[in-house]
Amino acid sequence: MVEIKKGLEDVYVKETEITYIDGQLGRLYYRGYSIFDLAEFSSFEETSYLLLYGTLPTKNELEDYSNKLRKYRTIPDNLKTFLKSLPTNLNPMDVLRTSMSYLGMLERGNDPDAQIRVIASIPTIIAYYHRITDGLEPVEPSEELGHAENFLYMLKGKRPTKEEANALDKALILHMDHEMNASTFAAIVVASTLSDLYSALVAGIAALKGPLHGGANYEALKMFMEVGDPNKAEEYVIERLRSGKRIMGFGHRVYRTYDPRARILKNIAREITKNTQYETLYEIAERIEQAAIKLLSGKGIFPNVDFYSGIVFYALGFRPEFFPTLFASARVVGWMAQVNEYLKENRIIRPKALYKGEVGKPYKPIDER
Ligand SMILES: CC(C)(COP(=O)(O)OP(=O)(O)OC[C@H]1O[C@@H](n2cnc3c(N)ncnc32)[C@H](O)[C@@H]1OP(=O)(O)O)[C@@H](O)C(=O)NCCC(=O)NCCS
Repeated sequence: MVEIKKGLEDVYVKETEITYIDGQLGRLYYRGYSIFDLAEFSSFEETSYLLLYGTLPTKNELEDYSNKLRKYRTIPDNLKTFLKSLPTNLNPMDVLRTSMSYLGMLERGNDPDAQIRVIASIPTIIAYYHRITDGLEPVEPSEELGHAENFLYMLKGKRPTKEEANALDKALILHMDHEMNASTFAAIVVASTLSDLYSALVAGIAALKGPLHGGANYEALKMFMEVGDPNKAEEYVIERLRSGKRIMGFGHRVYRTYDPRARILKNIAREITKNTQYETLYEIAERIEQAAIKLLSGKGIFPNVDFYSGIVFYALGFRPEFFPTLFASARVVGWMAQVNEYLKENRIIRPKALYKGEVGKPYKPIDER
């Protein structure tokens, strides 16, 4: 008897010391540290170090690592020329996927800093293309600023406020890793063949692009915009569910309760939209959440990371088509940490399919079919 686990649900593919999700209690830990503590006290630099190298850095280690991140922000000139040559209406995830492939093509040898360079250069690629599509001149990265601060600086051409930089910093921490999700698994499948780092990351980006994974933040924001008025939220949810559609940013394969990342993002979204033009969007989201929880919580369906992240990214000045690329800019850390861990005891991933067709059919020449 063969049991097929559709979607590989509940199938374990490796042991890990990186990320632990308690889907019943709604808890998430990176290397044993609670996501609530990391979002409150840590930084993009420190948490990415923690995920990649296994421990919280000392002062010197963090300084050394952060300096490298700053130094590697500049992307190669031929990639800049390539980005400038592109049409301005492309899907930014396609641009990011192709840029990653482009960087991989240019890489030579086995540079130990390649992973840090990837983390540092993704925001530059995203901000570059964002500004090009806005009809603006790209802004070169600054070596003076922190990771999130520099990202917003390259996007807007001016230094962000402390609150804005903090909001992005926390949002990126929350997206960094999530155990064996579809994009991480895709990256591991490629890495398990002993292909190169960039090819594995291209696979991760490709998988993250889908609306059931990293594309859901954009879809959620679209819902809020479609509703337009907080008083119409409940009716919208009822109608959407009645017509068989899903509430985007709700539901999760592992969490059967409120996603802890959504809890933190909700607070960030509330703070960052307060007294701004985005406040109504936040109110709509909150009202959709209340209505959807009433109808879906019985099935263990609650807000996930994508429900409020779109509002945060939007309020920070990113256009919705770019949201999945922001997710990728953080998740790349998790992809690499998980790939590194898998490769320590590598075995090529090669599952099986249960054949249900016929065998031994007589071959007919083409003019007899
Ligand atoms: C994330 C997701 C793909 C997980 O899917 P999954 O574990 O395979 O769960 P299933 O698709 O089998 O759904 C199980 C049940 O919950 C329902 N469901 C799941 N997510 C739902 C949602 N967002 N809205 C309404 N119903 C939902 C399904 O309709 C199904 O109901 P049924 O058993 O009556 O047919 C799914 O919840 C989803 O599509 N969510 C919306 C997209 C999203 O936010 N993705 C980001 C994930 S971080």
